[in-house]
Amino acid sequence: MKITQAILPVAGLGTRFLPWTKAVPKELLPLGNRPIIAYIADECLEAGINDICFVISHGKEAIAEYFFENPTLAKALKKRGKEQLLDSLARYKDLHVHVVYQEEMLGDGHAILQAADWVKSDTVAVLFGDDLFVGDKPGLVQLIKATASIPEKEFALIAVENIPREKTNRYGIVDIEKTMPGHSHLKKVKGLVEKPDPVKAPSTLGIVGRYLIPHSVIKSLPKVKAGKDGEIRLIDALTAKLKTLPIYALECSGSRIDTGTPEGYAKAVQLLGLVS
Ligand code: UTP
Repeated sequence: MKITQAILPVAGLGTRFLPWTKAVPKELLPLGNRPIIAYIADECLEAGINDICFVISHGKEAIAEYFFENPTLAKALKKRGKEQLLDSLARYKDLHVHVVYQEEMLGDGHAILQAADWVKSDTVAVLFGDDLFVGDKPGLVQLIKATASIPEKEFALIAVENIPREKTNRYGIVDIEKTMPGHSHLKKVKGLVEKPDPVKAPSTLGIVGRYLIPHSVIKSLPKVKAGKDGEIRLIDALTAKLKTLPIYALECSGSRIDTGTPEGYAKAVQLLGLVS
């Protein structure tokens, strides 16, 4: 399946990184000489996607600016003969970057909804700005490859990771109907549970921030009821569609780091912190 568009919701408050996020988006924390968000954009490019839409909140414009051309800087570098630096600035010249605002932080599903008018393709990728894949093919590349083993034309595919049972209350957890024949890591899903108690969790497969979702899921978001905390979540939109839309989960290989916490970020610095 060819996917051409990706939504990157990055409007969140980043409370786990306060007070840093009071002034600077956590997506711009450096790994070597590049911000975390550059790794997510690279993942899109590696998966053949060059049309991306950032969902931002006011004050997070610098996330998109990182990808825009800067003619004044380019001119200054040229004047100083720093040609090799010019090359590094041109890395994203073929990436089409679009920006929409989420005026109120009402959840990841609500953030995705703000990009609804921008989506032109039948299926769109969604990447959360916190999760990084290290040491194997990126999650998005693995998801797109796995679509070849899905029989239906319209479906949703979620990246999952096998997590320790005591951590199920920090993740959305999938309830598995069956493993797909000939593909031990691809599962048909019969239920989704947000942050279940470890004793009640239907599996230990936790949802990580990569999805392929059909247009019908985006269209259904306005009807999704907000949770107790007032947030409209993608997981609730998918749950509401379970009866009519086939949903699959892919257990991705490689390690995944949640850079949305200071501990996860420290791990990412250890693994990717060299200037690249
Ligand atoms: P998180 O749940 O990690 O929230 O959102 P957060 O605000 O980034 O961080 P904490 O929990 O307060 O520390 C997962 C992804 O969804 C985006 C976030 O930016 C992140 O990439 N998001 C979340 C939005 O774009 N809008 C929202 O209303 C909520």
